[in-house]
Amino acid sequence: MTIKTIILASDHAGHLLKNIICDRVTTKGYEIIDLGTNNSDPVDYPDFGHLAAEEFIRRNASFGFIFCGTGIGISMAANKHNGIRAALCNDVNSTKLARSHNDANILALGERVIDVEIAKECVDVFINTPFDGGRHSNRVKKIDLINRERVN
Ligand code: RB5
Repeated sequence: MTIKTIILASDHAGHLLKNIICDRVTTKGYEIIDLGTNNSDPVDYPDFGHLAAEEFIRRNASFGFIFCGTGIGISMAANKHNGIRAALCNDVNSTKLARSHNDANILALGERVIDVEIAKECVDVFINTPFDGGRHSNRVKKIDLINRERVN
C-alpha cells in the first residue's frame, strides 16, 4: 500500500495556523510530517521553506502546507526547488484554480492575513481538487524549464 504523505512547515509567524491545519489534516488518513517550528521563538522562513521542499521531494509527498506571516517568503523559498509548485492563496477560488490549472503541490498561507475559517476551507479544497490536465499539462511542465527552449 502506498502511504500518502502531507508535509507541514512554518516559521514562528505561521506556527499557530500550522497547528490548526495540522489538526485538520490529521483526520484525513494521510501520514503527517510536521517539520516545525513549534513556538514563537524567531526563526528564518527560508530555512523552513527549503526544508519543506526538500522533504516533499524526498518523501514523494502528496501535498504540502507551509505558513509564515504572509505566506510570501516561505513560498518564495520553496519555489526555488525543481518540481515544487507552491501557490500562495488568500481565498478559496485561487486555491481551487491553483490545483486545477497549475497542479500546485504546496499551498502557502499567511497567518497574519487570512481568516482561519477560510484557511481551513482552502486546505480542504486544495486536497480535494484534481488537476484538470489537458491544455494545462504542457504549461505546467514549462514551469521548471529555465534557460531552455520555451516554444511549444
Ligand atoms: C516574520 O516576521 C515575517 O517576515 C515572515 O513570517 C513572513 O511574513 C515573510 O514573508
